[in-house]
Amino acid sequence: MFKNFFSIVALSFVMIKNTQAQVPVYLDKTKQLKDRVEDALSRMTVEEKIAMCHAQSKFSSAGVPRLGIPDNWMTDGPHGIRPEVLWDQWSQAGWTNDSCIAFPALTCLAATWNKDMAALYGKSLGEEARYRNKNVLLGPGVNIYRSPLNGRNFEYMGEDPYLTATMVVPYIKGVQSNGVATCVKHFALNNQETDRHSINVVVDDRALYEIYLPAFKAAVQEGGTWAIMGSYNKYKGFQNCHNPYLLNDILKKEWGFEGVVIADWGGVHDTKQAIFNGLDMEFGTWTDGLTWGASNAYDNYYLAVPYLNMIRKGEVGTKELDDKVRRILRLEFLTNMAPDRPFGSFGTQEHAMAAKKIAEEGIVLLKNQQNVLPIDLIKTKKILVVGENAIKSMIIGGGSSSLKSKYEISPLEGLQKRVGETVEVKYVRGYVGDTSSNYNGVVSANSLAEKRSADVLRAEAVAAAKDADVVVFFGGLNKSGHQDSEGEDRLGLELPYGQDQLVSELAGVNKKLVFVNISGNAVAMPWINEVPAIVQGWFGGTEVGNAIAAVLVGDVNPSGKLTFTFPVKLEDNPAHSVGEFPGKNGEVNYKESIFVGYRWSDKQKIRPLFSFGHGLSYTTFQYGKVTADKKEFTATDKVTLFVAVKNTGSRDGEEVVQLYISDLKSSLPRPVKELKGFEKIFLKAGEEKVVTFTIDKSALSYFDPAKHEWVAEPGDFEALIAASSTDVRTKIKFRLK
Ligand code: BGC
Repeated sequence: MFKNFFSIVALSFVMIKNTQAQVPVYLDKTKQLKDRVEDALSRMTVEEKIAMCHAQSKFSSAGVPRLGIPDNWMTDGPHGIRPEVLWDQWSQAGWTNDSCIAFPALTCLAATWNKDMAALYGKSLGEEARYRNKNVLLGPGVNIYRSPLNGRNFEYMGEDPYLTATMVVPYIKGVQSNGVATCVKHFALNNQETDRHSINVVVDDRALYEIYLPAFKAAVQEGGTWAIMGSYNKYKGFQNCHNPYLLNDILKKEWGFEGVVIADWGGVHDTKQAIFNGLDMEFGTWTDGLTWGASNAYDNYYLAVPYLNMIRKGEVGTKELDDKVRRILRLEFLTNMAPDRPFGSFGTQEHAMAAKKIAEEGIVLLKNQQNVLPIDLIKTKKILVVGENAIKSMIIGGGSSSLKSKYEISPLEGLQKRVGETVEVKYVRGYVGDTSSNYNGVVSANSLAEKRSADVLRAEAVAAAKDADVVVFFGGLNKSGHQDSEGEDRLGLELPYGQDQLVSELAGVNKKLVFVNISGNAVAMPWINEVPAIVQGWFGGTEVGNAIAAVLVGDVNPSGKLTFTFPVKLEDNPAHSVGEFPGKNGEVNYKESIFVGYRWSDKQKIRPLFSFGHGLSYTTFQYGKVTADKKEFTATDKVTLFVAVKNTGSRDGEEVVQLYISDLKSSLPRPVKELKGFEKIFLKAGEEKVVTFTIDKSALSYFDPAKHEWVAEPGDFEALIAASSTDVRTKIKFRLK
């Protein structure tokens, strides 16, 4: 009688409206969603249900064509919308309308410490995904920065669970406001790439709950993410894409997650476990469905024919299948079939400017002696730009986050454009790193081929540096294997390609040397005392060159702060200090427990090269004395803290005011202090503002593994107001009764 499912649903709502005049049921969105899900489910055959639970191509899964329910289309994520790939291959399909705006890497977003930037990022990226007809964005990544060698740190938001949890929420809401689901990844404990498919992580419950899970929990409970991606690695011996502890017990039961658990590509290993251990959708299991093997290799997925056969033989029931399909239908109704879904927009100037703004705010001024920065455009006549990263595309490469961007302003171009009319900008390569710039068929426009030897290149750069007014070195890492790239970890903390020697030699001939580190990771800087100005430039996306130029010349006053600790040497990092990276014999034991990042440096009294939360400005900020509205409070109370911050310099600027809490005495070991609040404020030159923080017992709590709950122990605490984790400006004691 009805042509398709839409007409059935539409009619049933009209009927509900007419018969229930007093409280129209259709106005209750949750009930409406549940009704629609149940209605659709009741009309589906077992075969149709099975088809929904696994991929039909590299990035899509079937809807229910008979009922008018669309296919699901996934896209990477998390920095931009990936180019279309062939149906069953990773290679790009060669479309000419799929060049996106590349946003800065998530490390850079997090370094803005600005929730509004996370919201802008999410909204803009969601619009791009929506326009490209993707209903699931494979991102953001919120795994914690445990070691500087993790090749995928650039896709994550740093070492602190509070910061990551705070920044992920607006990102999710922004994306999902477009009727596009986020798929927060990689759940969980995916903190290295070495042996990523097989490594079993051993971690205590406190570290699990206090460090590695909070961002995922916030994504579920505060962000309301509609999907989560299981990770490749193992925990308690189970693969995480079908891990009963993580997926059933914690995610679905403890946190009440109603969304879809999607396997990371190729992360499923067993049908029975995939049925019972919390997975909903299987993707990327090895296949070449069009040219190899069975007529449709996707039927061989663990959750395809093998699952159907088990049901047919009566070996398993359909309760789990219905639960999976309910979740997938919910996703469909919230995305593809949402009645008020916007249409999105793609590759726009507005998105490019959003990307630029985020890049500008994320750039961190690490060191600035003798006011080398901002570059004085009146006195400066000649700038020498050195380094491969001044010209290398950082949008292409790095694994699944690789993009095809509408354009990419390199750092060299950005600087030339900004100052080229009045200042001579000369470029020399200085060193050769990785000349390849090709990922799945997306090729960089400029050739990086270079035949001259390292000695010749270095000598040329040093000679040119002698008569430059300022030398700007763009170095760091790149998106090639064993750098900032998926699938492999870095081999050491040091800069690759002989950059250290080059930096030292340049510093020897020119006192005005600026080192811009393009990376998503900390690097060693053995020449730190020789170089007056250091900038953390990140992977900044489409507008990276313009953003860096704006900071270097002072159009933008830098306001980014580090989201992870730069250790002096690798052994200063906890994972390496305890000798547990990347583990051995298939296992990695997080023996440092909760003491990750600055929590470790604080405990061991190790002075980092640059601290978590550190970032300079071209102006200066003075902090007043922190006060509190009460000195004692109960577990149901809140305390409000006030601190006046003044811009004491001559430029307008932004400051990230950080709140750390210190538990002065506790029955379990606790970090010296933990980040529990931050506010980014804009202050005109000379202006003063009062920043307030309101905290409750959650800011004081630790996870008690024996009770399996968060506990705030009565006693004395201290609130520390700081400009970085090692720059505490004022503090106050208070008591929990
Ligand atoms: C990565 C995911 C990504 C997926 C699809 C996997 O190898 O781990 O982050 O979303 O591929 O490209």
